[in-house]
Amino acid sequence: MMIDGFRHLDGYLDAERQRAYVQLVRGVLAKAPLYRPQMPRSGKPFSILMTNCGGLGWVSDKDGGYRYQPHHPATGRPWPAMPRAFLELWADVAGWPAPPEACLINFYAAGTRLGSHVDCDEAEMRAPVVSVSLGDDAIFHVGGSKRADRKSRMTLRSGDVVVLGGASRRAYHGIDRVIGGTSNLLADGGRINLTLRRVTTA
Ligand code: SIN
Ligand code: FE2
Repeated sequence: MMIDGFRHLDGYLDAERQRAYVQLVRGVLAKAPLYRPQMPRSGKPFSILMTNCGGLGWVSDKDGGYRYQPHHPATGRPWPAMPRAFLELWADVAGWPAPPEACLINFYAAGTRLGSHVDCDEAEMRAPVVSVSLGDDAIFHVGGSKRADRKSRMTLRSGDVVVLGGASRRAYHGIDRVIGGTSNLLADGGRINLTLRRVTTA
């Protein structure tokens, strides 16, 4: 039923680790504030906010499009270092010998979404993408390598980890909706998603 290589590790992070992750994210945000990316060409703003940590960060804007770069687009400063806990999570679940180079931090206010897409801006497409959910519940979908392929839907809850490996690495996926008021983890509500990626083939 589910596409090969897809894993949903339900409740992987306990409440204490979730709180620790939130503190680590807050530390990153203090140096690399959330910003609102734009769609390539149209310049249409994303409904979610983003920042990154690690040597490389994924960004998108009207003129430059989707890409990885070593600095924050608004501050011009290098992305903060990736916290050790994130590197350890990758080592525990990714099954890939090299460490992740990018951690994209997505912030979803209640009611926001992320359209269906394939993560394909990485030179290294054999390494999985590891995703962590913190805060409010999200309705997630994952399909196949074609946009029209049938999709499975599931709720991602705070502490869940998803691994997009194998064939699922090239699968369309996205967030239909974040449901406000479903978690107490974030004082102001909403959802944080971390995606750890290997970018280069080094
Ligand atoms: C993403 O596909 O980049 C994020 C998925 C999520 O928010 O769970
Ligand atoms: Fe994605």
